[in-house]
Amino acid sequence: MQDIASLTQEIRHLKKERNAILLVHNYQLPEVQDIADITGDSLELSRAAATMDGDVIVFCGVDFMAETAAILSPEKTVLLPAGDACCPMAQMISADELRRARKRYPDAAVVCYVNTTAEVKAESDICCTSGNALNVVRAVEQDEILFVPDRNLGMYAQRFTNKRIHPWEGYCLVHDRITPAQVAAARQAHPGAVVLVHPECRPEVIDRADHVASTSGMIKEVCRSQAREFIIGTEIGILHRLGKECPGKTCYPLAAEAVCHNMKKTDLVKVRDTLLTLGPRITVPKDIADRARIAIGRMLAL
Ligand code: 13P
Ligand code: SF4
Repeated sequence: MQDIASLTQEIRHLKKERNAILLVHNYQLPEVQDIADITGDSLELSRAAATMDGDVIVFCGVDFMAETAAILSPEKTVLLPAGDACCPMAQMISADELRRARKRYPDAAVVCYVNTTAEVKAESDICCTSGNALNVVRAVEQDEILFVPDRNLGMYAQRFTNKRIHPWEGYCLVHDRITPAQVAAARQAHPGAVVLVHPECRPEVIDRADHVASTSGMIKEVCRSQAREFIIGTEIGILHRLGKECPGKTCYPLAAEAVCHNMKKTDLVKVRDTLLTLGPRITVPKDIADRARIAIGRMLAL
């Protein structure tokens, strides 16, 4: 098996040859994060996909993230090294189901979490990420909102805005499993540590946290805070970046089993192979991309 150093070298060389940029989500394996041009949360990576130069985007993440990049940069070749890396939550609503739900709430604006398929984005009024969900919901003109697909993020927005929100019944398999008992146990094990959780967690977990933030929001908060110890309530891949960017701070996982297996499907061999073969390539049909781009564009314009 080839070692990390020589694979990294090969990837650097191929990246130059292909004029490629590597966008890497905060949950990816440490060695994949270490070769990134940009490591970030969904919002930062969407912005990078829309603005960065290059002919090829290698998206180390899951399918909806690469689709968003393909929608925002249709002229670029967008590659997903692990072609089967998907987000189960994004599969919890289809475009047909959303069209039917719209009829039930004719006065509601549709806000879709970025963790959706391109088809669902095309049926939505505006997109949001965990980093801007409250701002997006507040900015919508209508008082009533159909929020899809994450019920926990929808309920979080309900609590911190004045809107009437109808949350869809989707959820993240990783965050929805985190329990209040785990928060209590972590606080007992690390008294005085600050608890940060992702807004995909259940309301009763959010109630017991000190901060609620997107993955990059957590990194900023840990770096900024005067505290020394933190309990991190999200997928454990983020601990690598926290260790690099916030030296001197100690971060404990709130749930050591909080692993998104789809995020772990990308490794350096797949990144190398994707650059060699220019596949698997992610494309979105033009009519769907054009409509989905409106919902994403409204979010990015905020
Ligand atoms: P972030 O945008 O906060 O990185 O979240 C993405 C995600 O899939 C969380 O599970
Ligand atoms: Fe989807 Fe949850 Fe994995 Fe994020 S952590 S990609 S929401 S399954």
